Amino acid sequence: MAYIKLLPHFELCPDGAEFETLKDESICEAALRSGIKIEHACEMSCACTTCHIIVRDGFNNLNEASEDEEDLLDKAWGLEPNSRLSCQTIPDDGNFTVELPKYTINQVSEDH
Ligand code: FES
Repeated sequence: MAYIKLLPHFELCPDGAEFETLKDESICEAALRSGIKIEHACEMSCACTTCHIIVRDGFNNLNEASEDEEDLLDKAWGLEPNSRLSCQTIPDDGNFTVELPKYTINQVSEDH
């Protein structure tokens, strides 16, 4: 079980949020269970980048990203060195601070 602190996002959680993950639960699943409507266009099958998060604290305590995840992340809007796909990120335990990027790739392509 891990403790996730989500930084404020203008649309999805303006005041930020805090929640815990259950055993073998991804950050994406835990966020959805906690009422945060994080995008997950491919239904968490590691085939899109809409569940992109940036891990501000605790990055090195996470499971390693697979090659598929790394390849997909290259296409994510606002990629940073500590970026992950939240549906592929399953923290064992510990404290993590996570930021949702301002946009997802879907929103960017809809707007332009
Ligand atoms: S929901 Fe598509 S990669 Fe996570």
